[in-house]
Amino acid sequence: MTTHTISVLAGDGIGLEVMPVAIEVLDAATRDAGVRLDWRVQDWGSDYYRAHGTMMPADAIETMAATDAIFLGAVGHPDVSDVETLWGMLIPIRRAFDQYVNLRPVRSFAGVRSSLAGDPEIDVVIVRENVEGEYSAVGGRSYQGTPHEAAYQQSLFTRHGIERIATYAVEVASGRRKHLVSATKSNGIIHTMPFWDEVVAEVVDRAGDIELESVLIDALAARAVRSPQSLDVIVASNLFGDILSDLVAGAVGSIGIAPSANLNPAGEHPSMFEPVHGSAPDIAGRGIANPVGQIWAGAMMLRHLGHPQIADQIEAAFTAVVERGEVTPDLGGTLSTREVGAAVIAELAAQR
Ligand code: NAI
Ligand code: MG
Repeated sequence: MTTHTISVLAGDGIGLEVMPVAIEVLDAATRDAGVRLDWRVQDWGSDYYRAHGTMMPADAIETMAATDAIFLGAVGHPDVSDVETLWGMLIPIRRAFDQYVNLRPVRSFAGVRSSLAGDPEIDVVIVRENVEGEYSAVGGRSYQGTPHEAAYQQSLFTRHGIERIATYAVEVASGRRKHLVSATKSNGIIHTMPFWDEVVAEVVDRAGDIELESVLIDALAARAVRSPQSLDVIVASNLFGDILSDLVAGAVGSIGIAPSANLNPAGEHPSMFEPVHGSAPDIAGRGIANPVGQIWAGAMMLRHLGHPQIADQIEAAFTAVVERGEVTPDLGGTLSTREVGAAVIAELAAQR
């Protein structure tokens, strides 16, 4: 029996609804496979913030460091500023654990109509740089409250940072169509983006057998909706990758399906797995959130922990359930969050 300790941060809103369902699915999938998941549930998030003034306790990083992975729902509450929720929880975790890869697979499901004309087949992996770039803490505000008020935000791109994300993307591309698109904007952002282009090209050159296409982010956004089939693996900076992955996920039909992994590839620190969506305050509390993004994130977690077979089984099970139309209202169905979870568990049992 292999045991993995998992920090569970359901967080806010629909995070609290999709997390228990995903945990049940993962428990069902691992039960007879010699794997035990030891869930360490934490009540951190916006409610914790209102009670304590911080999103998580001072020793939270230390607590999570002693576990094998982090399973996150979503954070964000209409009454708490997104700066507090993001910089109080998500971003510190990504940085403390050097989770420099944000991996976001997006693919079509039969029976789920794409929001794009012609219902194209989409199968894309976005490799987003996750700890530097445009989301840097360097900057500030001046002359607040005066007509001269100003804000500055400095992007930070390092050779080390670009090399390692490009190296990871090359590895992903090697296992797929060996075609890598790099998102850039070197015609407008004339210092950081040419540097990004140079370093990505060096890394791809060294790899030898990967075809690299450098595409300006605006043109790439248009291409992602006009001919998503021409895209396979995309490597992008923090901001570009963030926007592009929501765009491609939205093209597939619902943001409720998409998963994401925040990886520390060498395994020096725990990695974090979460759905792409946020806390969805507009539907929170109604039991209708799509749990597939959370379940898929759980499958990615098991893959990372060394259980690809169990991950494959979970992916096959939710794919079958979605393709049969047993889905929540965001995908045009009538099932509740719990009912979708139960259908996935039944499918797992049926596939054995
Ligand atoms: P959101 O992803 O929460 O919601 C966008 C739209 O998609 C809403 O109409 C929502 O109902 C729908 N939706 C999202 N997930 C769904 C699911 N699983 N099933 C069915 N429908 C779903 O993004 P929004 O509204 O911009 O942000 C809400 C809060 O979440 C904010 O406070 C934001 O900062 C936070 N947020 C947190 C993230 C995280 O925890 N990683 C990521 C994105 C946003
Ligand atoms: Mg986003």
